[in-house]
Amino acid sequence: MKQKVTVVGAGNVGATAAQRLAEKELADVVLVDIIEGVPQGKSLDLAEAAPIEKHDAHLAGANRYEASAGSDLVIITAGIPRKPGMSRDDLLAINRGIMKNVVSEVVRYSPDAILIIVSNPLDAMCHVALEESGFPKNRVIGMAGVLDSARFRAFIAAELNVSVENVQALVLGGHGDTMVPLPRFSTVAGVPITELMAPERIEALAARTRNGGAEIVGLLKTGSAYYAPASAAVEMAESILKDKKKILPCAAYLEGEYGLTGLFVGVPVKLGKNGIEQIISLSLAPDEQKALEKSAAAVRELVEAMKKMK
Ligand code: NAI
Ligand code: 2OP
Repeated sequence: MKQKVTVVGAGNVGATAAQRLAEKELADVVLVDIIEGVPQGKSLDLAEAAPIEKHDAHLAGANRYEASAGSDLVIITAGIPRKPGMSRDDLLAINRGIMKNVVSEVVRYSPDAILIIVSNPLDAMCHVALEESGFPKNRVIGMAGVLDSARFRAFIAAELNVSVENVQALVLGGHGDTMVPLPRFSTVAGVPITELMAPERIEALAARTRNGGAEIVGLLKTGSAYYAPASAAVEMAESILKDKKKILPCAAYLEGEYGLTGLFVGVPVKLGKNGIEQIISLSLAPDEQKALEKSAAAVRELVEAMKKMK
């Protein structure tokens, strides 16, 4: 039997994720957005491409959540990007309100779903989703590390002129300027990049990765990245829907792992039919651990700012 995935937010990331989910025939897909006609129009457009793309995934669009009932998985991309004149706290407050509203509706109709959170600020929005849903921590997962690691992988492959398929990379921490690319755990055909590149080149690629989202915003000017973010969310979805048990870097709620407690931070996790089935604890070098703690502190700052909004 086909599974059901709801994507909330039929904007750039949401619609692209719906397209990839359908074209990979991973599930029937429901798109939900507050703008009348947009989720309906995009899902109809995608359904009309199905005969050419050769898939039988059903697609539907809605402005309300009845159509999402009984979803196995819900990907939440609803939110607004930062606009000129807005502070980070303004964005945090607005997207927190959107996330609370979306999650309360999602949970009403799909009490057993697994949630993949995409909306920014990512790690903070995961906290809102965990709190609002009342779900166990294994069913609330943030998408950032897969994207940030894919960017690092793409840059490494281009630098060394090798296939992207040969490159694995790991970026941990919060989804922001303090994210932590880990060269020691990044490899080309199994060989750590620390043996293949000069330290200054590695640092240049790591810096480009940390700036990856801003680089795309600078080019697009009217929005942020969506092809790679959608691919990242769908890779996570696929591992859950097919119970593949892939190890992927995701924002997970930590309770002592990596010395961090009560915080969503990007770490390697095993994703299967139960959501996060294991948090993988790596043995970090002191400088790597320090960088992770600095990144976690930036996430904690946002979480504390949200507490004051109550
Ligand atoms: P977008 O503006 O294209 O789409 C957002 C959609 O959310 C819009 O269609 C809007 O109508 C909808 N929306 C707003 N309030 C809603 C509500 N209450 N209920 C349902 N839908 C609602 O934005 P885009 O590019 O798709 O990005 C979406 C979010 O994902 C942003 O917050 C962005 O910063 C974040 N993002 C996060 C990434 C990550 O790595 N975690 C990567 C890329 C984007
Ligand atoms: C990105 O990294 C905007 O968070 C988004 O592209």
